[in-house]
Amino acid sequence: MSRGLASKTERCNRVPRHWRNELHKVLITERQIARRIKTLSLQIEQQFSGRELVIVAVLNGTVLFLADLIRCLSLPLRLDFVGVSSYGLGTESGELVFTKELRLDVRGRDVLLVDDILDTGRTLYRVLAKIRELKPRRIKTCVLLEKAARRTEKVRADYVGFSIPDLFVVGYGLDFAERYRNLPFIGVLHSRFYDELASADGKTATALLRWK
Ligand code: PRP
Repeated sequence: MSRGLASKTERCNRVPRHWRNELHKVLITERQIARRIKTLSLQIEQQFSGRELVIVAVLNGTVLFLADLIRCLSLPLRLDFVGVSSYGLGTESGELVFTKELRLDVRGRDVLLVDDILDTGRTLYRVLAKIRELKPRRIKTCVLLEKAARRTEKVRADYVGFSIPDLFVVGYGLDFAERYRNLPFIGVLHSRFYDELASADGKTATALLRWK
């Protein structure tokens, strides 16, 4: 097909020129994200109709998704954050620690836990367990993305934006070495960026992340 005849979908899926060296492709466009969030928000509004919600968002990757989601919700709501981090870079087995605790009292409340991605499930599992100890009336979970392929914990999300294959995705809040969170779409990073990281030992990986 000649350049001038590229379809609208193809044009939307093109990686913007200034990201082409780093991104392999656009997986989910800005427009697809916006449409999906509208649908999710309608489902959430139905389920929590007549109730005040406490939205608990997991820092940091969730910020863009959260901002767009709550602007679509016309329910009364209060907002709080939790921070969770893994020790070390070999995070598969690293212990999760809370870097920011909840401030709002969720006892007897309806809680919606929001995260950007459900991957191994360790984060959601740990945060859910912690919030359940605080005795909310009801707790539901909402993630923009889920990767079933890497799940190690028995945990699921009640609301899922997109189920994606096991690709290294960045953008719309998701990072690689703290970069790319500001992309308005979900993109796939060129494998050369993370191949060397995956094969590195902990010390080299730290150096690589600093360098990148
Ligand atoms: C990411 C993401 C989720 C978590 C999911 O957070 O934001 O919270 O990983 O992975 P899991 O299902 O394997 O636990 P990350 O620790 O990268 O921090 P960030 O949100 O600050 O990027």
